This record gives sequence, C-alpha cells and structure tokens, in this order.
Amino acid sequence: MTEPTDLQRTLAEHDQEHLLRFYETLSPERRKALLEQLRGIDFDELDTLIEQYVRRKPHVEVPSGIRPPEMVPARPSDEQTQALHDAARRRGEQLIADGKVAAFVVAGGQGTRLGYEGPKGCLEVTPVAHKPLFQVFAEQILAARRRWDTAIPWYVMTSPINDVPTRAFFRQHKYFGLPADDVFFLVQGTMPAIGYDGKLLLAAPGRVAMSPDGHGGALPALSDSGALADMAARGVEQISYFQVDNPLCRAVDPLFIGLHAERDAEMSAKALPKRDPMEKLGNFCVVDGKVTVIEYCDLPEDLVRQTTDDGHLLFNAGSIAIHMLSRAFVERLTAGGGCELPWHRADKIVTHVDADGNAVTPDEPNAVKLERFIFDALPLAERTVILETLRTEEFSPVKNAEGADSLNTALHDQVRRAAEWLEEAGVTVPRDADGKVAAAIEISPLFADSGEQLAEQVDKHLTIAPGDKVYLGSRGQIGGEK
Ligand code: UTP
Repeated sequence: MTEPTDLQRTLAEHDQEHLLRFYETLSPERRKALLEQLRGIDFDELDTLIEQYVRRKPHVEVPSGIRPPEMVPARPSDEQTQALHDAARRRGEQLIADGKVAAFVVAGGQGTRLGYEGPKGCLEVTPVAHKPLFQVFAEQILAARRRWDTAIPWYVMTSPINDVPTRAFFRQHKYFGLPADDVFFLVQGTMPAIGYDGKLLLAAPGRVAMSPDGHGGALPALSDSGALADMAARGVEQISYFQVDNPLCRAVDPLFIGLHAERDAEMSAKALPKRDPMEKLGNFCVVDGKVTVIEYCDLPEDLVRQTTDDGHLLFNAGSIAIHMLSRAFVERLTAGGGCELPWHRADKIVTHVDADGNAVTPDEPNAVKLERFIFDALPLAERTVILETLRTEEFSPVKNAEGADSLNTALHDQVRRAAEWLEEAGVTVPRDADGKVAAAIEISPLFADSGEQLAEQVDKHLTIAPGDKVYLGSRGQIGGEK
C-alpha cells in the first residue's frame, strides 16, 4: 500500500493497524469509504476511552447523602397544587400558541432488543388503524398546531444506520400532514465498537463497526446540525424531548412545558412511581443539590429497597426519558463544540470479520459500545422540575419483541387508556369478566389527545359492542379501520 502512509502511522501508534488488513482487496470506492471512516475517528480520544472503559470496568461510586428529589404531583390533591397546575398549563398553552415550543424525538437507536427491520419509528403500533410510531407523534403535533393555531417545528434525530429510510418514510407518507418545512432531520454521531482487547472491530473488510453514540448524542447533534440555529431563527425557546418508542408519550404537553418555564428551569423531567424496587428504570436522586439519574444497576440494593416511614419506596421516582430543555441550556452546553457528558459502557455481541475475513457472531458479548445518555445533562442544569406522571397515561414503551415492554403490552395499554378516557367521559365500554376491555379502541390525537379533551368531544351515546373495532379519527368518524 502506498497511499495511506499518514493514516498507517496513526493506526500503528494506536495499535489499530489491523483495520487496514483487507485494504488491498477492496474496490477503489470501498477503499475511499474506509479511509474516510478512519479519518473521522479521533484515535487519541479513543485511547483514553479504551483505558477508562474497556480495560477497566468503570465503577460508579454512589455518593453519600443522596436523597430523593421533590416532585410536582401528577394529580393535584390540594388547592395550592391545583393553582400551580392551572397557572403552568396556561403558561404552557401560551408558549405553544406563541410558537416558542419545538418537539424533538430521538430515533437514532438500533432497536436491537425489538429486532425490527428498519427504523423503530416505522413500526405499526396502534390497535385499530395500525399507525406507525412516527404518525402517532405527528398527529399529536398536528393536533396541537390546529388547537393553538401555531407552528410547532419537529426535530427528528436519526443516526447513520437509519437516516435514509427514516427520511424516505416521512416523504412517502407526506410528512403525515405536517408541512415538510417544519420537519427537520438531524443525524447523531457514532462510536466504534471496541473489542475486549482494545482493538476496534471491522463490520466488513472495508468498514469499521460503528454504532450510534447514545441519546446523549442528541445535544451535540442539535448544535452541529444547525437545528439549534434553526430554532433560534424561528423564535423557539423550549424543546420538548421524547423517545420514539413510547406511543403513550405526550409530545407536546402544556402542563409540563409550563411548569418548566414557570420555574425558569434549564432541564426538566417526567418521573414515574416505580412498579417495584428492582424495575429497570433510572432513579431520580439529588446529589450535592443537583438532580441526577442513577441507573438501576448502580444504586446499591439496600438503597433501592429503602422505604419511608409510611412504607413507600424512598427512591421511587423512575426516569422515563421525557424532558423539557431550554434552548439556551443546550446552547450553553454545546458552546465550545461537543458536549461533556460522561460515557457509559455496554457489553454487546458485535458481529465482525475475523483475521481471515470471515463473518463471526459470537454467543457471548465480545465488545464494548460507548454511549452517552441525555439524563446526564440534568445535574448540569441550574434549575430542574420533576413532574410525576401516571404510568397508565404516559408510559408503555416498545423495547422487546415479546413479554414486558413489547408491542403487545403497548397495544393493550393504548386500548386500556382509550377505554378509561371514554368511561370518564360517560361512555359505556364493554369489559370481560376479568375487567379487561372487550373491544379494540383507538383514539386519534386529532380527535382528542387527553381525557379532558375527549370528554368535550365525544358523544356519550356512542355504543361499543364486545369485539368491535372502534376508531375515533379527526372528524370523529367511528368504525373499523383507518
Ligand atoms: P434505547 O436505549 O431503548 O435503545 O433507546 P434502542 O437502540 O432503541 O434499543 P436497543 O437498546 O438497541 O434494544 C431509547 C430511545 O433513544 C433513542 C432510541 O431511538 C429510542 O428512541 N436512541 C438511542 C437514539 O436516538 N440514539 C442512540 O444512540 C440510542
């Protein structure tokens, strides 16, 4: 090989020469692509990370004196909290109406647990109309735009593994009724997969195995892509952050937006009371006066199980990755380029080519992936609001192919929530002997995107028979499929 001598030297210095092992066998295009990929990797930084996260397993020290955070209750039980909610909701509605709010979905993940071919946002997830996840959120945004007669730009973060099909999906579906100019795609960064011997892996003879750098990559991506500048030009001040896999999530929630703004918070979060002490959700804690999420696996079991005098879990607030971020906060964090969030190590099975060029998929984890998490920005915020949420209203993620947090549970939870909204509005919903809803019911966000809104809209004489498939759509049409 004559050409890549500089690069060869760099790779040799960092003990990564094997990455050019198949160079001579590659076509000119593949060679070019490989060189480009290698030049995009910061090998100095990587050496440090390999030392810190691969050769050693980072041990998370739980600081002493941690305590649970204060939370705004989901449902007010006294006048003061009711007044707080009312004022916040009004403020949130005003901010939305004034065009100061953007929606931001992170959809760059690999979705390995689900094993779905294609971007997870394309997964058909609703019980009657079979709408994909992206459409669920698009309709919420469309509904809010109509309700407050305003523009709500939507920023969609992808990664190199799913950017092209995601954009194509939106084009194919005509942006689900949103103006194309108000949908902004941004691509997050990637990190190489690192073998346990500290060597990067080749996914193919001419390609380094890379994966998205975690949802924390959203912060630099917002800055690098020009999304922050676009927000500034549009007058957006607040960013409503959510993940693509939770169809119950409210993409634009006036109460949450308003609470965050009323307290002049930089970053806020929604929290759920944990189902059980060992539930795999990060725990909101206060450390040195700052709200911090400590992962379920890093909190010692005695703390996880500790209860208060009245028998409740002391650390009961689970993180569900729904946040408000002020634009100024993201600008501050990314001002010097990049964003100093810590890395997290995940041990993964990474398919790669061996020294003979054969593809190998080990049975056991063979490599470390490094990811940044968005919640690590919380302790960097000057002020934070934690709003308690009801699981039945706002959380049912599609993570796994089956069992808990799967498509099945999300379908079930959507129907259950729709039935509860209808019953609260005075509509009779058929239930079986076990109390399970005996019909498939779907309420489009264009019909109503909260129980209160449904109560204003729905005909109380609506009849639903066991086995019916009921869809309440934008013009209130009722019946079978979309
Ligand atoms: P998860 O942590 O559940 O990861 O992402 P995942 O990639 O979807 O699924 P697994 O772990 O491989 O099974 C939570 C949310 O964060 C986004 C995902 O798209 C999802 O909305 N995410 C995750 C990113 O946008 N980028 C990432 O690098 C990782």
